Formats: sequence, C-alpha cells, structure tokens
Amino acid sequence: MSRPVLVLVGPMGVGKSTVGALLAERLDSGYRDTDEDIVTAEGRTIAEIFVEEGEDAFRALEKAAVHRALGAHDGVLALGGGAILDADTRALLAGHRVVYLSMDVEEAVKRTGLNAARPLLAVNPRKQWRELMEARRHLYESVATAVVATDGRTPEEVTQAALDALELKEA
Ligand code: S3P
Repeated sequence: MSRPVLVLVGPMGVGKSTVGALLAERLDSGYRDTDEDIVTAEGRTIAEIFVEEGEDAFRALEKAAVHRALGAHDGVLALGGGAILDADTRALLAGHRVVYLSMDVEEAVKRTGLNAARPLLAVNPRKQWRELMEARRHLYESVATAVVATDGRTPEEVTQAALDALELKEA
C-alpha cells in the first residue's frame, strides 16, 4: 500500500492541477488527479456524468476514486473541489499531509468565469461561489495540514509556498 507524498484540496480553478504538476516535478514524484481517474474509468466527462446521472452519482464515483488513490498513489494527489464534502473522505484524510490551496471569491470569479465544463458554476457564478465557499471553507480547513493562499501569486510562487509550509525537501 502506498500513500501520497501530499494531497491537494481546494475549490475548482484554484490551480490544483498546475501546482500539483509543479510540486510533483520539484519532489521528483508522480502526479495524479481523481477527476481524471473518474473521466478515464467512465469514458465520459465530469459534466456528462453530472447531466446524465446527477451530482449524487458523481459524488459516489468520486468517493471511490479518492479512497482508491489515497491507498495506491505515492506522488502528489489532487482531489476534485467537492471531495471533502464526504465525511468518510475527510476522516481518511486525517492521516495525510494535506495542502489547502485557497483563493478569495473575486479571484475565483475572475479565474473560472462562466465555465460550462464546471457544472456547479453554470448560473450566476459570483453568487454560486459565495455560497459554495461558505459551505466548504471550514471543511477544507478541517482537513488541511497547511493552507496556502494563491491570490496574486504565480503557480511557481504557490508551489514554493506549499513546499515551505510543509518543510518538504526537494528530491
Ligand atoms: C467540483 C469540482 C470539480 C469536479 C466537479 C465538481 C466541485 O473538480 O470534481 O465539477 O464540487 O467543486 P476541480 O476542483 O478539479 O475542478
């Protein structure tokens, strides 16, 4: 059984994949993303799964994908933005090094805008963001061993801040 060198959580569009890939490079490890695992296994996009089966079905797939990856991947692992909604997943994360990449709502709206590939933001993105972060902020914080703010920072700066926060030595 493997365990990830670190797990990235945070809202969609915060840069988990970009920063995750940079962290993996710096740590000379692999990079894995549970959204990609789901898309590969299902042969459908996340948006298609939401539309065809609804959010609950997607969350069940996501929970299974996260649990599998936490026990099978030894590199950097990025979780979909809503993975922390599940209490079992949060409990499982307790034994891991978890970095919460945060951003404020205005930055979020600017970065994601109206993005059809992100079904949760399809209508009125600013209001959706505010509600989403009100519901989730404490959950992200509850699983995090380090919180790294991304506002106004380049992906390289965020990567360095995450390494510093965790005091991880590069490979
Ligand atoms: C979601 C985030 C998305 C994806 C799905 C739902 C969420 O992942 O899992 O659209 O609930 O925040 P990213 O955070 O990788 O965009």
